[in-house]
Amino acid sequence: MSPPKRDSAAATEILPDYLSRTYTWAYLNQRTLPWLDRSVVVSAILWGNAGRLMRAAVAEFAPGQKVLQAACVYGRFSMMLAERVGAHGELEVVDVAPLQIANVRRKLAGHTQAAARLADLCTPLGRDHDGVCCFFLLHEVPEHQRRQIVDNLLAAVKPGGKAVFVDYHRCARWHPLGPIMTLVFRTLEPYAQSLLDTPIESMSARSADFDWSHRTLFGGLYQHVVAARRTR
Ligand SMILES: C[S@@+](CC[C@H](N)C(=O)[O-])C[C@H]1O[C@@H](n2cnc3c(N)ncnc32)[C@H](O)[C@@H]1O
Repeated sequence: MSPPKRDSAAATEILPDYLSRTYTWAYLNQRTLPWLDRSVVVSAILWGNAGRLMRAAVAEFAPGQKVLQAACVYGRFSMMLAERVGAHGELEVVDVAPLQIANVRRKLAGHTQAAARLADLCTPLGRDHDGVCCFFLLHEVPEHQRRQIVDNLLAAVKPGGKAVFVDYHRCARWHPLGPIMTLVFRTLEPYAQSLLDTPIESMSARSADFDWSHRTLFGGLYQHVVAARRTR
């Protein structure tokens, strides 16, 4: 594996406003972290779908690949990705919160193919990844920053590689959880509504270099989107 990249100076000093304003309780608090970073909690938040959503995302990548995970995820997701790329691959996890980076470094201890780096995904990333995985980040980011992140993540994929986005989506009208999710988005996830009806490929001009495939799961509540970069 290539030498670990340094944490970016900007990220070590400044957390995005939207993150500290909205999600301190979830990602920036030393006391809540051990309670939230449990597979059972992640599974409950995703209505029992966490396992299959994670497995489907991880299966998009192959042993030996160099994969970027965009932002930390509670539970075993980073370990699953590290195990998938294997000893001959590389996993790089990038997050803007020092607490999250410290936590994922602890969880990934012993996985020598994996490294975690402090940086803001709104700033450009490396451009030589076989794969990029963005798991439930976009709904937690305001529209402007979301577009920057999607653009940076697509730029990070080399020709022949792919970006995988798993996130919320507008569920079917008949969905019994629809009213509950509307309430959850209104109270806890203020940026989520703007993602639900906006195709991810509409967020970056680079989309034209990719072949896009989409599927929805669990009555449309979740989307699994793959952007495969054409080789020329
Ligand atoms: C991936 S998202 C949500 C994941 C999911 N809800 C879970 O189960 O953990 C949460 C992470 O995104 C990170 N994050 C938010 N905005 C970011 C940005 N601009 N750059 C890097 N990381 C960011 C937060 O620090 C947090 O660790």
